[in-house]
Amino acid sequence: MSQLFTPYTIKDVTFRNRIGMSPMCQYSAIDSAMNDWHQVHLGSRAMGGAALIIAEATAVRADGRITPGCTGLWNDDQIEPAAKINRFIVDQGAVPAVQIGHAGRKASAARPWDGGAHLKDNDGGWPIVGPSGTAFDTDGIRLWKTPTQMSIADIAQMQNAFVDTAKRALAAGYKMLEIHGAHGYLLHSFFTPLVNTREDEYGGDLRNRARMMLETVDAVRAVRPENLPLAVRLSVSDWTEGGITIEDNIQMTKWLKERGVDIVDCSGGGATPDARASIGSRTASQVALAGQLRTEANIATMAVGEITDAKQAEEIISSGQADIVLLARTMMRDPYWAMHAAIELGVDVKAHIPTQYGFYIK
Ligand SMILES: Cc1cc2nc3c(=O)[nH]c(=O)nc-3n(C[C@H](O)[C@H](O)[C@H](O)COP(=O)(O)O)c2cc1C
Repeated sequence: MSQLFTPYTIKDVTFRNRIGMSPMCQYSAIDSAMNDWHQVHLGSRAMGGAALIIAEATAVRADGRITPGCTGLWNDDQIEPAAKINRFIVDQGAVPAVQIGHAGRKASAARPWDGGAHLKDNDGGWPIVGPSGTAFDTDGIRLWKTPTQMSIADIAQMQNAFVDTAKRALAAGYKMLEIHGAHGYLLHSFFTPLVNTREDEYGGDLRNRARMMLETVDAVRAVRPENLPLAVRLSVSDWTEGGITIEDNIQMTKWLKERGVDIVDCSGGGATPDARASIGSRTASQVALAGQLRTEANIATMAVGEITDAKQAEEIISSGQADIVLLARTMMRDPYWAMHAAIELGVDVKAHIPTQYGFYIK
């Protein structure tokens, strides 16, 4: 019997199988609200059989967008466009989730296909903030902007923005919330010593560097209904000498679990130009680290990275490396990946796709 196609429940939310779409920025928002592009991008994967659809990195404040095309949930006008998409996703039998975050010193960039470099303030960009006042790219070429080091008051305001966005996410009908703590964006940049050189209680040892993430999780948890799952995406390794390691993340995960985090989404890299990016040829090694974290921190995990075929995904779940597999580029290639995987594994596909298709397909 397929483990990949066995339902899975966290609190009051049941996933029809263990397959999710990983969050993917689409750089296609207008006024930072979702639109028809997002409807089809997210909706088609729900039709295609995925159980969990995680919407892209969604900014808690305007200055937290990676690019001007990124989505946000910092005002109430952004709620209904997302809610419309979520109603559709639920109608298809899938669970809508959203990843909320702030891009920190990597914000204010051009879209990837426009070069991805920082935009000047008078050319569509905006001033950026971070745990410390150092630029991502020290050669002054790509992400060259110097962030303003956040004060204690700035930190409190930022945590409030996460809380307000979490409330809007609930109003928009997202059943699961994921806090973006990876890829060198704000929360990860507080956690990693490669970026955070603060000398106050938000910098220094592991516990101090974890403080920003943990306080943010506490504040968000307080406004989340107890019966809905909360996830955090971590960069499970910085992949760089002197950066955070899987051991640091096992400790972080234990602290997150104490605070009511239900599942950890195991990504990697992104803190510095040397730290291997979140996508790339070595991404697959994250899957093994998801397994290690699951065992040693005794928490549910989502594994992501170079998951391309059904038997591989089945093995990740059945070997206990993860509770859910997330696919990004593979689902970009094939919105119906989950349906195809069910057919390949000999699973009754009808339980995983809408009746309009399931009635006809074996
Ligand atoms: C176009 C694109 C956009 C992405 N946007 C996000 C994002 O918004 N948030 C995030 O945490 N990861 C993002 N990622 C990383 C993916 O979620 C995923 O972790 C990574 O691509 C590895 O999975 P894959 O090998 O299945 O592509 C993005 C990846 C791609 C290709």
